[in-house]
Amino acid sequence: MARISHLASLLAVANCTFAAKWIGEVKEVNGVKYQCKCYSDNKCWPTATDWAALNTTVGGVLRRAVPPGAVCHNTIGNVSTYSAEACTNVQANWLNEQFLTDDPIANLWPLYTNNTCLPTSDPNTPCTQGFYGTYVIMATKKEHIKAGVDFARENNIRLVIRNTGHDFMGRSTGYEALVINTHSFKEAKFVKKYTGPGKWKGSAATVGAGVQGRELYRQAFAQSPPVVIVGGECPTVGWAGGYVQGGGHGPLSTIYGMGADNILSFDTVTAKGEYVTANAEENPDLFWALKGGGPSTFAVVTSITVKTFPEIPTAGTILNINTTHTNDTAVFNKGFEIFHNLSNHYVDNGMFVYFELNLGRLHIAPFVAPRMDEAKLKSALKPLFDQLDAAKIPYDAYTKAFPTFFEFYIDMFEDEQPNQNSVVGGRLFSRKDIAENGTAVADAILFASQPTNDTVGFSVGHIVDPGVGNPVVDNAIHPKWRNASSFVITNVIMDGTESWEMKKDRERIQTHIVGKAFREAGPDGASYVNEGDLNEPNWQTSYWGSNYPKLLKLKKKWDPEGVFYTQTTPGTENWEVIDYGRKLCKKG
Ligand SMILES: Cc1cc2nc3c(=O)[nH]c(=O)nc-3n(C[C@H](O)[C@H](O)[C@H](O)COP(=O)(O)OP(=O)(O)OC[C@H]3O[C@@H](n4cnc5c(N)ncnc54)[C@H](O)[C@@H]3O)c2cc1C
Ligand SMILES: *[C@@H]1O[C@H](CO)[C@@H](O)[C@H](O)[C@H]1NC(C)=O
Ligand SMILES: *[C@@H]1O[C@H](CO)[C@@H](O)[C@H](O)[C@H]1NC(C)=O
Ligand SMILES: *[C@@H]1O[C@H](CO)[C@@H](O)[C@H](O)[C@H]1NC(C)=O
Ligand SMILES: *[C@@H]1O[C@H](CO)[C@@H](O)[C@H](O)[C@H]1NC(C)=O
Ligand SMILES: *[C@@H]1O[C@H](CO)[C@@H](O)[C@H](O)[C@H]1NC(C)=O
Ligand SMILES: *[C@@H]1O[C@H](CO)[C@@H](O)[C@H](O)[C@H]1NC(C)=O
Ligand SMILES: *[C@@H]1O[C@H](CO)[C@@H](O)[C@H](O)[C@H]1NC(C)=O
Ligand SMILES: *[C@@H]1O[C@H](CO)[C@@H](O)[C@H](O)[C@H]1NC(C)=O
Ligand SMILES: *[C@@H]1O[C@H](CO)[C@@H](O)[C@H](O)[C@H]1NC(C)=O
Repeated sequence: MARISHLASLLAVANCTFAAKWIGEVKEVNGVKYQCKCYSDNKCWPTATDWAALNTTVGGVLRRAVPPGAVCHNTIGNVSTYSAEACTNVQANWLNEQFLTDDPIANLWPLYTNNTCLPTSDPNTPCTQGFYGTYVIMATKKEHIKAGVDFARENNIRLVIRNTGHDFMGRSTGYEALVINTHSFKEAKFVKKYTGPGKWKGSAATVGAGVQGRELYRQAFAQSPPVVIVGGECPTVGWAGGYVQGGGHGPLSTIYGMGADNILSFDTVTAKGEYVTANAEENPDLFWALKGGGPSTFAVVTSITVKTFPEIPTAGTILNINTTHTNDTAVFNKGFEIFHNLSNHYVDNGMFVYFELNLGRLHIAPFVAPRMDEAKLKSALKPLFDQLDAAKIPYDAYTKAFPTFFEFYIDMFEDEQPNQNSVVGGRLFSRKDIAENGTAVADAILFASQPTNDTVGFSVGHIVDPGVGNPVVDNAIHPKWRNASSFVITNVIMDGTESWEMKKDRERIQTHIVGKAFREAGPDGASYVNEGDLNEPNWQTSYWGSNYPKLLKLKKKWDPEGVFYTQTTPGTENWEVIDYGRKLCKKG
């Protein structure tokens, strides 16, 4: 007995010493006290020996995080990086999404790399690390992920999980972070009959963390018989990473619900470094939270099992109104209002609609009409065409039908362009908002095309109601999605060379001018964590509504030390990135 208590006190001392090493810098900024994670200018930063030991643990897949543009610069720090050939290749691929997602650390939204180390044609310009991390684990096994999570937790350093680097809001970048890259987790297995926990007895697929949208659709289509999965519209966006953990809408969401509504099971590595399965029977609380409760918040997901559905015929319409048709602002605006006012009608018909809007240009590409042929879609869109014609609005439109969703998707969805600079925001308008305040909602969206005299905007809309196909679902997604009608992303466009102060001013325009107009026109709506505003007021309720208190409790249970962090996700209210986007610190 005495021996045991002696041991216990020894352990207590050991813990205490350990804790002292563990604690990062204490700072006071504007009267607020912060306790920071460990950074390279602190004593608690891991030594070269520590990093080498980590590299051994992960079988040699630890890499220095080198910005993709470094090959166009002579040096980064004191390391030579220039290569004419590699530089030409990066320059040629700078707008190629697949190239960027294949890179270990590239981010598709350069604002969140601090627009650093761009692929310049002058190799003498300096390349700095910006908000890219310091090291990256190119994980190929779940053991590598565990080793990275353990290392970050034990050394109290910032951890970033990076799948495709698609995140609009900087959630897969972090100054001096240890990055875990999950891009190699490419396995997908399909079964005709799911036999695991829960009520579902239909077909299913188990999808690795690194599988991307179009790859997944393609593999689903290759099954016999072919199947479909609820995923996003972008070909290269990850599926099992941020997409599902944030909720995930897509072209089939009106008929089948959100991505997260269809999940049967998750395999994860938790903040404590444990391999944990979460489904209807095992760890149901974590299962609930991972379905829409926020990316990089509760665990690192290694694979997901999801329902698959039989392939279905799908038709689509593409419609344009732009300067080819009219230069009259009043005519253009009226055309947009007529189109958008019918949002509830489209979703009542099981449709999803993707549209882009900027000054004088409306590009609807496409209206997605699952289970419809050309005649059915034309009749579903008749109210739209009739109203446009009656108001003498010029436009161009064409409709095509396909035997399967996959063929439709490949033909009618367009690729997007990465490496653009903008501050992002967005709002979900409910059915009630559209029915009662449709004109004001349309006006707010039009206003976002030019929110101030010296800024322009670009909006991406998704008309979708996951509540049509999945009216009652118990998961972490904001309940307002069940009454959704139109979800619009707004961008305040920048050129990337703005000063820090100017960037903050663009954020102000997004939050307090564009965002304010959206919140006022759509008071019954909500916001979406994957495509929202980092400065969203009352983000807890705006992103999760009545689910937030439960998510906060679960964050404290599954990640009590704050190993995982991304801005505006559950439990991060006391954390802040200070020092012009550098250090992650906890208040108090
Ligand atoms: C062009 C474009 C189109 C889009 N289209 C859609 C769409 O149709 N529908 C939709 O709902 N959303 C869409 N999005 C938003 C998309 O859902 C988010 O950007 C999402 O975060 C991307 O996830 P990712 O894993 O691919 O990206 P990443 O940037 O790599 O990661 C995003 C976040 O998820 C975390 N994360 C990644 N993998 C894991 C993991 N395995 N475990 C734990 N955390 C992880 C990261 O740490 C980060 O916080 C789109 C975005 C873009 C840029
Ligand atoms: C990790 O080890 C591998 C194999 O020995 C080596 O190639 C790589 O450079 C090491 N990584 C770092 C960051 O030193
Ligand atoms: C490069 O810089 C790092 C840190 O700034 C230093 O530790 C290292 O010794 C330098 N290497 C060379 C070759 O000068
Ligand atoms: C980010 O960019 C700004 C402006 O170029 C610069 O002043 C700042 O030092 C950069 N931060 C980092 C971490 O590189
Ligand atoms: C709108 O203006 C542009 C530029 O002046 C012109 O090319 C175009 O023909 C105009 N469109 C119409 C419908 O008049
Ligand atoms: C305008 O619409 C026409 C179809 O009528 C299309 O060909 C053209 O690409 C559109 N222009 C823009 C800038 O979107
Ligand atoms: C749009 O809907 C509103 C009701 O929300 C209605 O008052 C308005 O007349 C409609 N506008 C058009 C162009 O249909
Ligand atoms: C924006 O421009 C309009 C028209 O030129 C002008 O009347 C208005 O005062 C300007 N607003 C601001 C905030 O500068
Ligand atoms: C959704 O709409 C229904 C009926 O219109 C209403 O009863 C319900 O409260 C709404 N749910 C939310 C979350 O707004
Ligand atoms: C409609 O929008 C206007 C303008 O934003 C707003 O003031 C009003 O409160 C909204 N009304 C309803 C019923 O949502």
